[in-house]
Amino acid sequence: MSLISFEKVTLGYEGQPVVKDLTFEVNKGDYLCVLGQNGSGKSTMMKALLGFLAPMSGRITRDPKLKNAIGYLPQQEPAQSDFPASVYEVVLSGCQNRKGFFPFYNKADRALCEEKMALLGIADIAGRSFKDLSGGQKQRALLARALCAAGDLLLLDEPAAALDPVAAEELYVLVRALHKKGMTVIMISHDPERAIRDATHILHLGQEMLYFGPTADYDRPAILKRERGEIT
Ligand SMILES: Nc1ncnc2c1ncn2[C@@H]1O[C@H](COP(=O)(O)OP(=O)(O)OP(=O)(O)O)[C@@H](O)[C@H]1O
Ligand SMILES: [Mg+2]
Repeated sequence: MSLISFEKVTLGYEGQPVVKDLTFEVNKGDYLCVLGQNGSGKSTMMKALLGFLAPMSGRITRDPKLKNAIGYLPQQEPAQSDFPASVYEVVLSGCQNRKGFFPFYNKADRALCEEKMALLGIADIAGRSFKDLSGGQKQRALLARALCAAGDLLLLDEPAAALDPVAAEELYVLVRALHKKGMTVIMISHDPERAIRDATHILHLGQEMLYFGPTADYDRPAILKRERGEIT
């Protein structure tokens, strides 16, 4: 069974479709990069995948084993950067969705939090205030937080959007290393070159689905022509 499968899924808001006829699947060990212009429905697809948005039609299936084992790094909104909390507290809060209504952390949670901070090279700033970090440090902290939650599947919505080129490359290298260690990754990206370099599969969204398949078969020039409506 695949971890996630979309069959002829149409998504939208208040009866207005945003993206139609999405059919794709994600299997264990895949690294799927989601491409498409602003407003093409990438974040909407992610919301539906997480179960925050019901499809207008079609069917979304999630492997039941995934429950509580998804790490999610949402698209950055400026307001989210103001948590009055330390880096450690932000990362530790990633353990929360394992807990249901019992929000107390145990030793294992704290050990996991420390392991993820070390992995992302932020152990030395654990005590600092999250809101005072640089953009790159914030993304590392939020990625560590997502990793505390991610047993099997990591969802990233444009994690490199606010980063300078060096920090962006570091983040892509990190995600690639996580994938190599066995993590299944779904990443929304505005960086087709890195997506093509790193991902095993590409999903390219337009008003309909423009491409889903292995990266090796992704004919980007042809897809871009279809995206611009030059060929059908
Ligand atoms: N909560 C909402 N209610 C109504 N419309 C929405 C809502 N969220 C998104 N939309 C609309 O749905 C469309 C797709 O939005 P979405 O955020 O999925 O795009 P995106 O591909 O992630 O774009 P970007 O690259 O800018 O992040 C847009 O036209 C947007 O205005
Ligand atoms: Mg988006």
